[in-house]
Amino acid sequence: MSRRLTTAAAAGLTLGALAACSASLEPGTNEGDVLHLALNQTESHPSYIALDAWGEYMEEQTDGRWSIDVYPNETLGAQAEAMQLVSDGSVEMAIVSGPQLENLNRDFIALNLPTTFDDIDHQMRVVHDPAIVGDLYASLEETNNFTVLGGFTQGARSVYTTFGPVETPEDLAGQKLRVQESELNVAMAQALGASATPMAYGELYTGLQSGVVDAAENNEVSYASQRHFEVAPHWSYTNHLVGLDYLIINTDMLASMTAEDRAVLDEGWELARAEHVDLWLQATEDAVATAEAGGATFHEVDDQVFFDALEPLADRFLTTDDQWAIYDAARAASTESAG
Ligand code: GCU
Repeated sequence: MSRRLTTAAAAGLTLGALAACSASLEPGTNEGDVLHLALNQTESHPSYIALDAWGEYMEEQTDGRWSIDVYPNETLGAQAEAMQLVSDGSVEMAIVSGPQLENLNRDFIALNLPTTFDDIDHQMRVVHDPAIVGDLYASLEETNNFTVLGGFTQGARSVYTTFGPVETPEDLAGQKLRVQESELNVAMAQALGASATPMAYGELYTGLQSGVVDAAENNEVSYASQRHFEVAPHWSYTNHLVGLDYLIINTDMLASMTAEDRAVLDEGWELARAEHVDLWLQATEDAVATAEAGGATFHEVDDQVFFDALEPLADRFLTTDDQWAIYDAARAASTESAG
């Protein structure tokens, strides 16, 4: 069958036909399926490439009994919808950004704060350490029927604008800054003095173009692959957050797999995660070149000022012992803390 259905209409048909496939199976008995995966990135994005390779691995290792169809570009909906589809089992998997999960369980805030991770290495160590994240990743199984398998980095996020460089938070005063849809992200924009405008990723190009927003924040890879540099050509390295995407999978689907096939799924995912980090570094370099060639300018700024403005959010948003336990364990895994 076609591995890439790209229209929403085709996706709708597929979903209709799909809904019944796995949830009805007895645990541990399912010997093959097509796993549909919702992604909001383009086919050139490292996440798409790594996920596609994971699917190939599954096919090879199971003689084609299992495969993964990645639907890019929000074909199956923006992340909030995709999460709902994974919950009800009409789509098996999705990549969703940290703030989306924070809306379901506030413990995820511990991994979404600007002060949680120093860099990608630190982040990857923490988010694949079961002693730190084991309970957290299972925490939505009962309530939402999906399991978190792990994460892909979003690298360091910085601010870019339609109007000029942002050297200090004062340059954002009164400007409409698009943020991801969560309370913490709104508070982040406000702490930087901006007027926060939560919006889905796929709406942002038009939002910047039409002046609904004046600025956004993301990594270089999204900046270039979404072509935001065409409408917001001023990038400033505020490096205010090392962001995280999660891979979520329908819990009934996961439980339906035989133990052997589940082991193949896990091995393939581990390989995909490792590949993603390498792809990421290269894609970041390429993205800067693409954006510069398209007229963007990249400004070095004193990122400590942004860190200082956002640091108080930890005390404000971490309100329970469980949240602090995750945050403290994450910080303890920093090489800076190790000294
Ligand atoms: C990054 C991230 C996405 C997220 C997006 C956003 O691109 O990888 O998962 O949706 O930022 O800002 O919305």
